[in-house]
Amino acid sequence: MDKELVIVLDFGGQYNQLIARRVRECNVYCEVHPYTLDIGKIREMNPKGIIFTGGPDSVYNEESPRCGKEILGLGIPVLGICYGSQLIAYLSGGKVKTAPVSEFGKTEVNIDNSSVLFQDVPGNIIAWMSHTDYIAEVPEGFRICATTPVCPVAAMECKEKKLYATQFHPEVMHTQQGTKILSNFVYNVCGCTGSWKMSSFVDETIKNLREKVGNGKVLCALSGGVDSSVAAVLLSKAVGKQLTCVFADHGLLRKNEGDEVEAVFGPDGPYDLNFIRVNCQERFYGKLKGVTEPEQKRKIIGEEFIRLFEEEAKKIGAVDFLVQGTIYPDVIESGLGKSAVIKSHHNVGGLPECVNFKEIIEPLRMLFKDEVRKAGIELGIPEHLVFRQPFPGPGIGIRIIGEVTADKCHIVQDADAIYREEIAKAGLDKSLGQYFAALTNMRSVGVMGDGRTYDYAVVLRAVNTSDFMTAELAQIPWDVLGKVASRIVNEVKGVNRVLYDCTGKPPATIEFE
Ligand code: XMP
Repeated sequence: MDKELVIVLDFGGQYNQLIARRVRECNVYCEVHPYTLDIGKIREMNPKGIIFTGGPDSVYNEESPRCGKEILGLGIPVLGICYGSQLIAYLSGGKVKTAPVSEFGKTEVNIDNSSVLFQDVPGNIIAWMSHTDYIAEVPEGFRICATTPVCPVAAMECKEKKLYATQFHPEVMHTQQGTKILSNFVYNVCGCTGSWKMSSFVDETIKNLREKVGNGKVLCALSGGVDSSVAAVLLSKAVGKQLTCVFADHGLLRKNEGDEVEAVFGPDGPYDLNFIRVNCQERFYGKLKGVTEPEQKRKIIGEEFIRLFEEEAKKIGAVDFLVQGTIYPDVIESGLGKSAVIKSHHNVGGLPECVNFKEIIEPLRMLFKDEVRKAGIELGIPEHLVFRQPFPGPGIGIRIIGEVTADKCHIVQDADAIYREEIAKAGLDKSLGQYFAALTNMRSVGVMGDGRTYDYAVVLRAVNTSDFMTAELAQIPWDVLGKVASRIVNEVKGVNRVLYDCTGKPPATIEFE
C-alpha cells in the first residue's frame, strides 16, 4: 500500500468511519483503529497524521477512553474532533469543563482563517456540533482559531507541535467546508500528496489476501449482491481456484435471481470460479416457520447460512477460511463497535457463536457501499452488477412482516419484479438509492370484479442515500407509482392494496422489517 497513511483513533463516536471515508475521498489512505492502539505499533505504521474521533464520554472521568500523552509528542500531526479535541486539551494541560449551554446540531462558527486548518474557508460557517463538555482554557502553546457565541474554543491549534482540534464535526455533511477542513489537515498539515486511489486498495487487498490464505482453501458466501460479488472477485484474483463460491438459493431471493447469479458466476459466466449452487428453499422456509420477530428471523437465517457453508466446506475438505462481503454499515448497525444494536446484519451480528472455520475474512469491512462499487469497477466487474440494487443477506425474509411462508415470498418476488420493471421503464433506476417492494402483515377488505377480497397490502419503498447510513424519501412521480400499484393488484394474487412508505432513515431503516 502507498505509504501515505492517516490513522483514525476511535474513542467511541458515531462518525468514526465517516472520518476515514472523508480522508480517503481526499485520496489519502485512512484506517480506523481502537484508541488502545499501541504507541510502538503507531511508530511502526508511520502515519502522516492521526485523527482522534469524538465519543460520548467526559475526559475527566477516570474510566473514559484515553490514549497516552506520548502520542502528541511523536511529531506526527494530530487532529482532535469533539471528544478528541477535548482530549488533546486535557492531555496538554488545558481545562475541559461541562459547558453552561450544550450545543447540538447546526451552529454558526466564527473562523480565524489565518490558521492553516481553515485556509480558504470563509470567516463564518455552519458546523455540526454535538457536545456538553467544552475546552474552557487552551493549553500553553495553543491558540484559539474558532469560536461560537457559547463555545469559546470551537477550534484551537499548536502550530509548532502540529496539534489541531475542532469541537465541531468536519466529517459530517452538515458542516459547511468540512471536507475542505479535513483536506487542509491532510495536505497542508500532514503534507500528504493525495496519491492513493481505490486501485491501490484493490491491489494491496489482493496482496494481503494472498499472504493470509497461503496454500489454504477458501469458501466464499456468494449472494450475487454487490458486496459479496466484489469480495468473491477479490479473492478469486488473490487465490484463484483455491476459492470456491457457494451460492445458497434459499427461496428468499428476488424473482429469477438464482438463475441470474448462476449465469454470471457459474460455469457459463465470465469468471473462472469454482461455483456451487445449493437449492435449499424448503430448509430455510422450514426453519422460519412460525417465526415473526425480525431479529429472530435474522439470527435463524444467519445461522442456517453458516451451517450450510460448513456442510459445503466439509464436502470440499480442509477449508480454513470463510469469506463474507460485510461492509461498514453492516458492522456498525450490528452494534459491534460501541454504538447501539439496530439490527443484526446476517453476516455480522447474525453469526452463531460457534463457527466451524479457522477464520472469517471480510475484505470490505471498512468500506461504504459506494466505495465497494468503486472497488468493483476497479476489478472490472460489469457495471450492471456493480450498480445493482443492494439486497440484504437475509433477503426477502426481512421484507415480510410476520411469518415467512413460500406464498408470501412469491407475492413479494412478483410485486418487486413489477416495481423494478416499471422504475427502469421510467428511467429512474440509476437515480434512486434503493427501492423494493415488501409485504405488510395487514390484510384488508377490497372489491375486485363483483366480489369482496380480504388480501394483503404490499408496501413500496424508495430512498436516496450515498452511504446507506442515512437516507431520505425518494419522490417517485405519482403516475409511475399508480402504474406499479395497478399492475401489482392486477397481476399478483393475494394483494388488493399498495402503500408507499414515506419515511427516511432515521427514524425508519431502509429495509422494512
Ligand atoms: P438498513 O435497513 O439497515 O439498511 O437501513 C442499510 C443497507 O444495508 C442493507 N442491509 C443488509 N445487507 N445483510 C446485508 O448484506 C444484512 O443483514 C442487511 N440488512 C440491511 C440494506 O438493504 C441497505 O442497503
